Formats: sequence, C-alpha cells, structure tokens
Amino acid sequence: MAHVRADSTACEPRKRDWLRTLARMVCVAGIVCGAAFPVEAAAGEAPGSQGPSALAVSPDGQTGYVASADSRQVAWVAFPAGPVTRRIEVPAEPSGLTLSPDGARLIVTCAAPRSTVLVIDAATAQVLSSIPAGHTAMSPAIAPDGKWLYVCNRFHHDVAVIDLDAGAEVARVRAVREPVAAAVTPDGAAVFVANHLPNDRLDAYPVSAVVTVIDTRTRQATAIRLPHGSHSLRGLCVSPDGKYVYVTHLLSNFELVPTHVEFGWMNMNVLTVLDVRQRRVVNTVGLDESYTAAGNPWGVACTADGKSLCVSHAGTHEVSVLDAAAAAGRLVQMYMSADVGSLPDDSGQPTSQRHRIPLPGKGPRAVAVAGSTLYVAEYFSDTVAVVNLTAPPADGAEQIALGPPPQWSNRRRGELLFNDASICRQQWQSCASCHPDGRADALNWDLLNDGVGNPKNTKSMILAFPTPPSMAEGVRGTAGAAVRSGLTNILFAERPETESSAIDEYVRSLEPVPSPSLVDGRLSPAAQRGKTLFASERTGCSRCHPPPLYTDLKMHDVGSRDKYGWVDRFDTPALIEAWRTAPYLHNGLYLTVKELLVQGKHGLSGREEGLSEQELDDLVEFVLSL
Ligand code: HEC
Ligand code: HEC
Repeated sequence: MAHVRADSTACEPRKRDWLRTLARMVCVAGIVCGAAFPVEAAAGEAPGSQGPSALAVSPDGQTGYVASADSRQVAWVAFPAGPVTRRIEVPAEPSGLTLSPDGARLIVTCAAPRSTVLVIDAATAQVLSSIPAGHTAMSPAIAPDGKWLYVCNRFHHDVAVIDLDAGAEVARVRAVREPVAAAVTPDGAAVFVANHLPNDRLDAYPVSAVVTVIDTRTRQATAIRLPHGSHSLRGLCVSPDGKYVYVTHLLSNFELVPTHVEFGWMNMNVLTVLDVRQRRVVNTVGLDESYTAAGNPWGVACTADGKSLCVSHAGTHEVSVLDAAAAAGRLVQMYMSADVGSLPDDSGQPTSQRHRIPLPGKGPRAVAVAGSTLYVAEYFSDTVAVVNLTAPPADGAEQIALGPPPQWSNRRRGELLFNDASICRQQWQSCASCHPDGRADALNWDLLNDGVGNPKNTKSMILAFPTPPSMAEGVRGTAGAAVRSGLTNILFAERPETESSAIDEYVRSLEPVPSPSLVDGRLSPAAQRGKTLFASERTGCSRCHPPPLYTDLKMHDVGSRDKYGWVDRFDTPALIEAWRTAPYLHNGLYLTVKELLVQGKHGLSGREEGLSEQELDDLVEFVLSL
C-alpha cells in the first residue's frame, strides 16, 4: 500500500532571475534537493523524471496535489509558491486525481489493466480504501454529495460508478471509445464524459468523437456528437452554474489534400461548448490565431465565478484564458471549417476576450484554478506553473519545482519533440496531433507520399521500426524514413538530425498495452480457440500474419483496393494492439474486425462460409487479444 516517501523538500518556487539559476544549479548538484528527493527512476528514464499529469487544489486553495505519471508518485505541494511537503508512492501510474467536496479525501486513479482507485486521507496521507477498477482508469469525477464517484476506464470504454460509502463499484456504464475525461454537473444529475477518439468507419458522415452523457439516476447514457472531424479529446469541465460543459479537442479537415498547414487546413485546435440542459453543441471555438496556432489543447478549467476558461496547450507550452460568455455567444466565422468560429474581434491582436500566456515549462497538461490563481502541470519539466489570472504576466509564469530539473534522456527528448507543435510551421500541429499517445487518430489522410486522391488510415507507431516497410503502400522503406518525411512534409519543418533520431528512439521505445480482452493477462477460452483457428489451414491467417509480430513484412493483394486506389498490394500490418486501431485496413472502411472478416471477407477467400458464427467470434476475440 502507499506509504510516505519524504516529508519535506527544499526547492523553492523558481523566479526568472539569477537566484533561480543558482538554485537550479544547486539542485542539479544534488546539494539541496538530491538527498530530499528519494525519487526512483521510471524504466529507461534518467533519475528524477516525474511527468506530472494530473492536479487538484484543496478547497481553501492552500494545498495542491500533483500526480506524476512516470515516477508513480503523488505530491502534496504548498500553494501558491511551494515547496513540496509530502510525497507518496502509488501502486501504478497515477492517471488522475480529485478531492472530495470537503477536501478531506483525495481520490487517485492508478492506471493498469486492472486499475486501482485509492481513497486517501488528505491530511495524513493514509490510504483509507483501495477499490478495483477497469483498464486504465482515469479522470475520477466526484458528485457534489461526495458519495458517488465516476471513473473512466479508458480501454474498457466504460465508466465505473463507485459508491464511496460502500467502497465498491456498483455499476458500469458504456461510453463510446476511450473515455478520458469526466465531470459531474453541480446538481449531481449528469456526468459528461469525453471520448478520446471517433468510432466511425471512414466512408461515413459525420466522422467525429462524441461526448457521452450519463443520467446518474437511471444510469442510461446518451451521446452528443461533436462536429465532423473532431478527435483527440483531452479535457472536460462543467461551468460552476451547471449550464455549460467545455471540452478541448482537435478538429481535422482530413478530407482535404494536406498540401499545407496554414489557416487550419489540416488540424485546428479548438474548444467545444455544450449546453447541459439541451444536450447539444453550442459552439466550437477556434483557439488558433491566423499566423500563430495554439497546438494540442489539453486541460480545461473554469474560474469559480464562471467568467473565465483556462485551456492548456500541450504542444505550444502556453495557456489560453478565454471569456466564457463570449465562448458561448455569437462567434465570427473565419476558420476553414464552418463548424468552427472565432471569438469576436479576434483579429490576431490580444483582446479582452482571450489571452495567451506563455509558460516557463514544457508540455502543460492538467490545469486547476484556485481563486485567481491558475496552476498548470508541466509534464516534461516536472514543474507546476503558477499564473496570476488578475494580472497575467507578460514574461511567463512562476514555477514550482517538483524535484530537481529533469535530465532528459534522448528518448524523453524524442517524446517531447513528438508532442511539440512549436516545431511545426506556425505551430499548427505536432506528430501527436494525428498520432495521439504514439497511436492513431482514427482518421484517413491523403498524404502526398503515394499520390493524391487515395486517403490512408493513420497508422499507430507501435512496432513501426521492427516491421518495415512503412506506410500502407510501403512507400517508406523504414519507420526512420517516415519520421523524417513527417517532419518535412507534414509539419513543414526542417529539423536537425539529432531531433529526428530522438523521435526514432521514442517511437522505438513504445510498448504495447495489454489488450482489454485478456483475462488476468491470459487469453480467454474463446481467444484460445481463436488462436488455434488463426494458426490453422482452415483460416490461413498466420500465413501472412505469423507470430510473434503477426506480419510477414510483405505486401499482398487481399482484394482491399477501393474505388480511389491506385494499387492492389498493401503492406501486411502487425496485429499487436489491433484492439486499439479501428477502423481497419488502409482505408478505414471496417469498424470492427468481425465486419472486416464477414463483410470484407478478409483473408478467408471464401472459406468464411465454413466457419460457424462461434468460430468467427473466437477468431475475432483472438485478434482483439493481441
Ligand atoms: C496529419 C496527420 C499526421 C501527422 C501530423 C503525422 N502523421 Fe505520421 N502518419 C499519418 C498517416 C495517415 C500515416 C499512414 C500513411 C500511409 O499508410 O500511407 C502515418 C504513418 C506514419 C509512420 C509509419 C508507421 C508504419 O508502421 O508504417 C510513421 C513512422 C509516422 N507516421 C511518424 C510520424 C511522425 C514522426 C510525425 C511527426 C513528425 C508524424 N508521423 C506526423 C498521419 C500523420
Ligand atoms: C494473403 C495474406 C493475408 C492473409 C491470408 C490474411 N491477411 Fe490480414 N492483412 C493482410 C494485408 C495485406 C492487410 C492490409 C490490407 C489493407 O490495408 O488494405 C491485412 C489486414 C488485416 C487486419 C487489419 C489491421 C489494421 O490495423 O488495419 C486484420 C485485423 C487482419 N488482417 C486479420 C486477419 C485475419 C484474422 C486473417 C485470417 C482470417 C487474415 N488477416 C489473413 C494480409 C493477409
């Protein structure tokens, strides 16, 4: 169980002056911080890498709680200026945290195939209870009565309803695809849940992620569809008056030929406003400016008076502070997509409606507001930025160090670059804009490398290096070539070779997440039967998809050429993590593996008639277990 690792630290908040520089040098030398930070290194990381990714503030604004994904720790921080006063270790990656309304209990989701929700006494750090949850639990949201807790099980695609008094889960409500953020309305009547990815085949319209709304009384779920092209949802919050829900995401013009990035031609960085009572989209607000975009919006929080909205931009290392009333009001149409509007009189000049505040650290993700102070977890810098909202600083914000400055490994630097929109022309997008978490956005793109008019489904980075060639038509010999062409032709950036090779290292380091279909890490009986079928001559699947990577690394004609296609032969994809990469095939025309086999008659060349319904289901279960 969790225990206290260290009770005090000596790192003061950093100011942009020589004193801070000196303090940092001392920290690096370990003289001040070294002994006080018994931080274990995450696998493959330089010592001290923490990765703060979730944040909460006590009701009195005096204490911050920061979850660090990489060091698997939760820190108590004296707000507003530091220092860290306590640090505990948790059993798995702390993916989210929240406080009970009275501030007495801290709830931490620890993400794993079988996640744990820890209920911790906020004053003593004693673990009061430990409640099992689903695959990759995150974003715990507590009802105002303090009794009901809702937790997103990202890879089970559902939301656990937990009775905190009983200390147990009482129900699961189905979300749509990868729920990653949730909030309860102030009256406790509904939970709004952001689904990370669209769940549509790519000949459908619209193609977009949805927000799931759970009626807490009936536990029935409905969905609010976001505008066509919406994906990569990250943050969600409810306005204090309970009228609006705000959700951050990207909006892609994925049907256009991506010849340039300007004016949101490819990806726009937006915030959608939902009407809680009417359960509909009010506005999708563009957060970019014409010549300086604001890539990869992530966290969103409201000020207590409901007047301002604070959005972190993970790709451009800044926060936006928006006028909430303006965001829900009449917008000016000046974006590529008719669905997206600008805040009025946003002519590229700073206006009273919206401020952009540069942050001192890299990779801002979670945000929390206490009074007129905004706190932002800076994922790559192991710091919390402190922004005074009443007098937004011109030269960046203050910072609280969670430990010594991280010594980035080459891999970590690659991860930062992969998520960094500031290396893209005009900051419109990062690699992660289409490859969130190093995976895929569930969209098709008509990249120019294989001609125009033949869109391809975005590929996950998993096993990209060990399974050459790259791209559906194999037009890049290696993943390394794809990385370099991505920088030049998709981000429109010339970057030094050291950066490309750091990105290579990050991509190489990605490890498959265990499938949600596994039972205690093993194949279910159905998947076992499917495994036998997969390897048998009756199906012949393993001829082209031999273990261990489930690809023969060759190009085959499997009859998948569509009316837009130029060629018949496609690279055989690895099937590891196929549970995560719908829609399927180079053109994303099949939403499920079963559709691929039955409607698409994939791989079976007529033999599917010989398979019973049960056998087909077993085969599918095996593929989804890889
Ligand atoms: C606009 C969306 C988009 C962006 C931004 C993007 N990619 Fe891709 N990426 C794709 C698509 C689509 C494919 C699949 C193309 C195909 O199959 O022809 C792909 C394929 C790849 C592959 C090949 C994977 C394999 O196994 O075949 C690699 C590697 C890759 N991208 C790396 C990157 C890197 C690195 C960046 C940032 C420099 C990046 N991508 C930015 C859309 C994008
Ligand atoms: C003749 C070689 C061959 C055989 C046999 C074969 N596959 Fe495939 N498989 C491919 C190729 C090539 C693709 C990619 C086609 C495309 O993108 O249009 C593919 C794609 C897939 C995909 C989609 C993966 C993704 O991420 O889009 C799945 C799932 C799959 N195969 C499962 C199977 C199963 C199950 C069987 C046995 C019933 C099977 N395959 C038999 C060559 C084969």
